[in-house]
Amino acid sequence: MESVSSADLNTEQGHLLDAAAAAMENAYNPYSEFYVGAALLLTGGQVVTGCNYENAAYSSCICAERTAIVRANAMGHRQFRAIAVIARRRDCETKEVTAPCGTCRQMLFEASQIAGQDLPIILSNTEMTKIVLTSTAELLPLAFGPSQLGIDPELFRGPG
Ligand code: THU
Repeated sequence: MESVSSADLNTEQGHLLDAAAAAMENAYNPYSEFYVGAALLLTGGQVVTGCNYENAAYSSCICAERTAIVRANAMGHRQFRAIAVIARRRDCETKEVTAPCGTCRQMLFEASQIAGQDLPIILSNTEMTKIVLTSTAELLPLAFGPSQLGIDPELFRGPG
């Protein structure tokens, strides 16, 4: 885990954070009023975004990170190179970063297994004055995954 400044980010990383910040504004969040945006970088360079989408039956709420993963899958993409996540409360800039919840960490770990590599995770506060670089392996050590079930996830990579 490494704290960096926005000047340390490469163009792709900066673009990914901007895309996550834009997606965050589309959150459907009447219950929590918490805004989360995620942006996945695909191996081909395209970006697929997601935001949290809530429901009156609270346990049906879907996080931004998982929204991005299943959206990319529906578009025919399972191989990712990185993900950026940014979040804020209603009418509130954030000083700290927001890290993915446990369920999203589990889903991101599976995505890393499909990609065959640890996935970089870029976290930022809304002002982009605090940026943390971490990864799927770092956020979910000793993870349960496809190998426990005898599955080779790389066989399920799909076209891209
Ligand atoms: N949320 C995310 O979108 N990602 C996370 O990793 C943490 C939580 C959303 C779910 C819910 O809509 C709101 O934030 C409050 O938990």
